[in-house]
Amino acid sequence: MDYKVADLSLATFGRKELTLAEHEMPGLMEMRRRYGASQPLKGARIAGSLHMTIQTGVLIETLTALGADVRWATCNIFSTQDHAAAAVVVGNGTVDAPAGTPVFAWKGESLAEYWDEAEKVFQFKDSEGNPIGPNMILDDGGDITLLVHKGTEFEKAGAVPGQDSTDNEEYKEVLRVLARSLENDATYWTNIGAGIKGVTEETTTGVLRLYDRFKDGSLLFPAINVNDSVTKSKFDNKYGCRHSLIDGINRGTDVMIAGKTAVICGYGDVGKGSAESLRGQGARVIVTEIDPICALQAAMDGYEVKRLESVVDFADIFITTTGNFDIIRVEHFQRMKNQAIVGNIGHFDNEIDMAGLAKIEGIVKDEIKPQVHQWIFPDGKKIIVLSEGRLLNLGNATGHPSFVMSNSFTNQVLAQIEIFTKLEEYPIGVYVLPKHLDEEVARLHLDAIGVELTELTQAQADYLGVPVEGPFKSDHYRY
Ligand code: NAI
Repeated sequence: MDYKVADLSLATFGRKELTLAEHEMPGLMEMRRRYGASQPLKGARIAGSLHMTIQTGVLIETLTALGADVRWATCNIFSTQDHAAAAVVVGNGTVDAPAGTPVFAWKGESLAEYWDEAEKVFQFKDSEGNPIGPNMILDDGGDITLLVHKGTEFEKAGAVPGQDSTDNEEYKEVLRVLARSLENDATYWTNIGAGIKGVTEETTTGVLRLYDRFKDGSLLFPAINVNDSVTKSKFDNKYGCRHSLIDGINRGTDVMIAGKTAVICGYGDVGKGSAESLRGQGARVIVTEIDPICALQAAMDGYEVKRLESVVDFADIFITTTGNFDIIRVEHFQRMKNQAIVGNIGHFDNEIDMAGLAKIEGIVKDEIKPQVHQWIFPDGKKIIVLSEGRLLNLGNATGHPSFVMSNSFTNQVLAQIEIFTKLEEYPIGVYVLPKHLDEEVARLHLDAIGVELTELTQAQADYLGVPVEGPFKSDHYRY
């Protein structure tokens, strides 16, 4: 088995935490009970790219328990939990003879390593050991989906642009990896793309990329937007971030949050959870927004809503949650006070202009510990940046807890089964799971936290015009 992780000897610790997590992931464990015997994913070769955490380990082992062959990379250079990666690789084998799932991920990859490992999830072998592509993708943020699409486009055009065609350090690595595959096989990505039945996408940012491709006609296969299951975005993005944002700030800085002024840029699902996370600690929270609806929501939830420019001089903590780019820029860094803390919890690092920060004349980057740096300005002012501008809840802490990820990942498993077993119902397009499955995911998580669900009488159901067993809401209901 090929794999690349930090240290296989961490597998015992990883297995103990995986076992703890299983108890907190009732949705995934029910998937194993319900579908373990019928093996709906038998024959599926899933190329996966999603933060290689303990919770993801339980997801991977659920997919394999349902019959899938899986190869896995992380979707962020800092988010891997090395003991989780080790345990998934070892599986029920030993450190000397691992028998689990190939994982290509470790905490603290370089960008070049990240894209090299991302490509490896496509390298399955058939029973005779011949190379064969995956037939499913499970993605978070769309990076491996991008490899297939860009690779296919460049192959059609007959060439990959040189790395000097872009200033973007990350995209240079994408071009390098694609140029290498094109050199070896002029139709490598075209063939991979043709073999893929579909992709299930985890996050807001990846979903945006899929809708863009569908709109411009370049989407190669159907996609299920897992993010917009209610039991994903209204839970993981919100309650997950409420838990893991302060976890990241605490582990990174251990600064007292109570009494500080914190700015949350963006008041979508992630912003709502993040603002509550800091308010819960006693911070004075100020929100920035571009959308009048979300701005009004923030105001009526009791937050001040201001422009960044109005508060940048005196706030202590700045967190971006927008999924947009160029939110905190050099002119903001210049005006921040000494020891201000800056971090991002959105998917990509371009919310904060890290490249611009590094170019300030005379600035010095001083590492306090991995993923925590102080940037020292020529006048001695220091700004603390977490996870180099990448999502800090996974870079400085361990991401969302198992219970909320069980909701997200049960959606992932159902979405994989949907596309793999009912492809004819999914012509190329971007879909959300049907509401009855969304309600089912929630239902699977009620017992564990002692929820008593009231049942409709037939007369009440008739009065509302819904079935007694649901779905209970129309598709346009917003929760
Ligand atoms: P969303 O679309 O619900 O919220 C983003 C908000 O930012 C919107 O309300 C938008 O109006 C606002 N916004 C956009 N540009 C802005 C600007 N220039 N200034 C102020 N506000 C602005 O998206 P969601 O679901 O909250 O996700 C946000 C990001 O977080 C995405 O990149 C997503 O992929 C990522 N994410 C990260 C997670 C984590 O664990 N770190 C978990 C889930 C999502």
